[in-house]
Amino acid sequence: MLDQAEALRELVRDRVMCCGPSLRPPKLYTIAVTSGKGGVGKTSVAVNLALLLARSGRRVRLVDADFGLSNAEVLLGIAPKYTLNDVLRGRIDASDAWVDGQDGLKLLSSGSGLEDMANLDGEAGVSLIDYVLRSAGDGEIVVIDTSPGINESVSSILAFADEVMVVTTPEPTSITDSYAAMKVLLSKLPDAQITLVANCCSSPNQASAVADGLKNICERFLGRSFQRYEYLPSDGTVGWAIRTQKPLVISSPHSAIGPWLRKMAIKLDDRIRRRDLTPVAELELVGV
Ligand SMILES: Nc1ncnc2c1ncn2[C@@H]1O[C@H](COP(=O)(O)OP(=O)(O)OP(=O)(O)O)[C@@H](O)[C@H]1O
Ligand SMILES: [Mg+2]
Repeated sequence: MLDQAEALRELVRDRVMCCGPSLRPPKLYTIAVTSGKGGVGKTSVAVNLALLLARSGRRVRLVDADFGLSNAEVLLGIAPKYTLNDVLRGRIDASDAWVDGQDGLKLLSSGSGLEDMANLDGEAGVSLIDYVLRSAGDGEIVVIDTSPGINESVSSILAFADEVMVVTTPEPTSITDSYAAMKVLLSKLPDAQITLVANCCSSPNQASAVADGLKNICERFLGRSFQRYEYLPSDGTVGWAIRTQKPLVISSPHSAIGPWLRKMAIKLDDRIRRRDLTPVAELELVGV
């Protein structure tokens, strides 16, 4: 008898991997948000950045690839009718699995029951993401929220991304795990475009110290490092937004972390523009 993980692999093989070469539009910009340690703010960063870009007029899709945990929908306060689970079980097409969030954001929830998906091998992981993105349109931005720790399935998703955000906190355990994640990532993808997100910091100086320390150790032992870093302050509003299921950038734009998230979104948007995606007429990410 097939165990559950093997049954899921069969589903991916049957429904996804037999579809042939990718038909996804060439002009997507894909950002994968990951971390070494869990609970460092990945989903909060992914949801709020996706919403800020959507609010500025970009067409944005958010993929919850933290299989089986589906935290993004909780943070957005929405209850998706369909999930990736329905796609894999052939109940609906991938193009019908996207649900509408705030400001035109589209979410693909992994739903429940896909916990074993975390153990998919690399080929199956990338095929799965490739498959769901066939329903994305030209010029769209895709933000993928992953599970922590870079296993085969996560690294295949990261390989697919134009940019990887590695979220860390200043805690020594998080920094150590971020280095371990960076080591796996850079050994598999030496040219990865990486943004370190120093979250929950007490000041920009603390974020700078975290980034400098990690950069030194990465350059010394791996011969390469991340390209840039971002500072996000520790702010109780993040927890409050999760508890009330009201996304922070909508419900509390003037909280301590709000302007820093907007700065981050503006810089991200600038990198996306330089990739020559469909331009946005008038950006509204002002007021920082
Ligand atoms: N900047 C911040 N300031 C204060 N608390 C924060 C901040 N960022 C995240 N948190 C808190 O950290 C916790 C975890 O956040 P989140 O779910 O976004 O992390 P995660 O990395 O996605 O977790 P997981 O690995 O379980 O998916 C939440 O309780 C949240 O309130
Ligand atoms: Mg999460």
